[in-house]
Amino acid sequence: MHVITTRLTEQLGVSVPLLNAPMTPQAGGRLARAVSEAGGFGMVGIDGTDRQEDIAEQLAIIRDGPPVPFGIGLVAWAIEQRPELLDIAIAARPTLISISFGDPAPYVSRLHEAGIIVASQVQSRDWAAVALEAGVDILVAQGTEAGGHTGSVGTLPLLQIVLEMTNRPVVAAGGIASGRGLAAVLAAGAEGAWIGTPFLLAEEARNSAKARERIVQSSETETLYTSVYDRLQDMRWPEEFRARAIRTAFGAEWTGREELLGAGTSARATFERAKAIEDFDVAHLYAGQSVGLLHAVRPAAAIVAEIETQAEQLLERW
Ligand SMILES: Cc1cc2nc3c(=O)[nH]c(=O)nc-3n(C[C@H](O)[C@H](O)[C@H](O)COP(=O)(O)O)c2cc1C
Repeated sequence: MHVITTRLTEQLGVSVPLLNAPMTPQAGGRLARAVSEAGGFGMVGIDGTDRQEDIAEQLAIIRDGPPVPFGIGLVAWAIEQRPELLDIAIAARPTLISISFGDPAPYVSRLHEAGIIVASQVQSRDWAAVALEAGVDILVAQGTEAGGHTGSVGTLPLLQIVLEMTNRPVVAAGGIASGRGLAAVLAAGAEGAWIGTPFLLAEEARNSAKARERIVQSSETETLYTSVYDRLQDMRWPEEFRARAIRTAFGAEWTGREELLGAGTSARATFERAKAIEDFDVAHLYAGQSVGLLHAVRPAAAIVAEIETQAEQLLERW
């Protein structure tokens, strides 16, 4: 029986106050469907480099079959470059769309007119103010513990700051991988948790056995916050958003010296080769500090159930 209800569960029509983060490309239709069927809120990530056919394929998986609530995650600066990404997302008729890493203001009224709830990940007081001004419905306080692109403030201080700024629903992201983490952020006043890294070990995630194995082997001290991989791939991420990846000697060597990684360099050739064969001693593997808590590949439903049950047990004491 599901016993934790929050404004988030009511707003999204789900029974567990957690969402899987829209990780690209790992969070596709299968993962989102499995999370939603388990009572959470499934999200599909869309990236600026995704081909339209691939996006359509992933969205079909969540839309075909028995209806479940789901969301789509987009990146603001990618929509600026490819406005059709937003059209595709709206046409899929999700319950929620998140627009992160930039100002969502230009898109909010269109989404509201389509009856879609708008969320945005924020990484500082200033970004929270931007999201509030834009009129987003749900703020996701994303701490630096998170895997993938993020800011530099820890989840707990950021969550407290954002909660003091608004009465709108706030969800916490970054480093939450157990019922302890979910219970902690709910007790602090968040309406739920936005969870990425733990779902990299879900059977339904779109990643390889090799990637999962590396995540299982990594500890909480073995991540690196860097823009090396954006530079190596000519991705135009704003400077303030670096990405958290599994630490490697290669990544550490170039962090802080990213300007030396331009086209034609031997480091780029090494990286390209490693990426092609998934040599994760060089190629990037985005993951957050919660890797230290992750030990096995499991169905997404088992991850959702374990987090929910533990959070319920802990919160019962109150
Ligand atoms: C592999 C990976 C890819 C990600 N890709 C995206 C993305 O495309 N868009 C987005 O808004 N957030 C993305 N994120 C960030 C997540 O939305 C979320 O903030 C983060 O996973 C939460 O922290 P956690 O990893 O500690 O659970 C990604 C995270 C990971 C680990």
